[in-house]
Amino acid sequence: MAHLLSVENFAKIGEFIYRKSGIFLEKEKHYDKLAKYVNSRARDLEIDSFRKYFFKLRFDDEVGDEFQALMNAITVNETYFFREKDQFEVLVNEILPELHETIPSDRTLRILSSPCSTGEEPYSMILHIVEEGEVVQKRDIEVVGIDIDSTVIEKAIVGLFSDRSVHAIPKGILAKWFDKKSLGYQLGEDLNGSVNFQVANIFDKVQMRKLGKFDVIFSRNMLIYFDDTSRKEVAMTFYDMLNPGGYVFLGHAEYMSRIVSVFNAKKVNNTLIYQK
Ligand SMILES: C[S@@+](CC[C@H](N)C(=O)[O-])C[C@H]1O[C@@H](n2cnc3c(N)ncnc32)[C@H](O)[C@@H]1O
Repeated sequence: MAHLLSVENFAKIGEFIYRKSGIFLEKEKHYDKLAKYVNSRARDLEIDSFRKYFFKLRFDDEVGDEFQALMNAITVNETYFFREKDQFEVLVNEILPELHETIPSDRTLRILSSPCSTGEEPYSMILHIVEEGEVVQKRDIEVVGIDIDSTVIEKAIVGLFSDRSVHAIPKGILAKWFDKKSLGYQLGEDLNGSVNFQVANIFDKVQMRKLGKFDVIFSRNMLIYFDDTSRKEVAMTFYDMLNPGGYVFLGHAEYMSRIVSVFNAKKVNNTLIYQK
């Protein structure tokens, strides 16, 4: 079947996706994948032109299902447990003890994983927090995970992970907190449900405001899919969502100093973090 999405219309839908999600698609890299998706979606909807599909996406999608399906199709969800492990160690050994000293002990210490994909990142935080043990025994800690892709959030809630996803977890920790099943590793009952997962778009101001304030925000390996304008908007959203003195952790290829200058950069044990 010929593609319903022409190269000219790729620019139109690309602009729509960029405006709504910050994701910047390039013709050379993404045309084929998006064109195949439009064909298959049009077939499901019994629509015979890109124009009709694009109309539905923009003007006949009150609940947002069409946009959600498009997001689920185009996002890159690569992740695994203990990815860039040093950052989790800095979080539990340096940052949580520091925040525990400065924040009243009756207030919940809140951590956001944005984006969390299938849950490996927020659950890596939890595993480090419970293994380290100190701060969590003294106060309440809440971990929230958000992602724009509803299929990854559904998987995160189930908590069943592939061999590849758990490969970097030390064997003793894996055996202690997971049950080996024929389809992979199931997070055990003690920890399953310990992260508050939600579908949310980082560019949706209402959704972000509803999440409330945080003391730590991990945002790793998402900004690489955005352009400078979107990165700046996201960085300022994080700034607004942080309590004073709170921290942002970015992925190893992402640098706040190239985006905005409102944070103080700090090097802790060779890990660069950003304080409000
Ligand atoms: C490569 S994963 C990174 C996951 C994890 N932070 C890590 O580093 O392993 C990038 C995730 O960003 C999510 N994403 C992309 N645009 C988003 C947006 N506007 N709002 C929320 N999540 C978004 C994608 O759905 C995808 O799951």
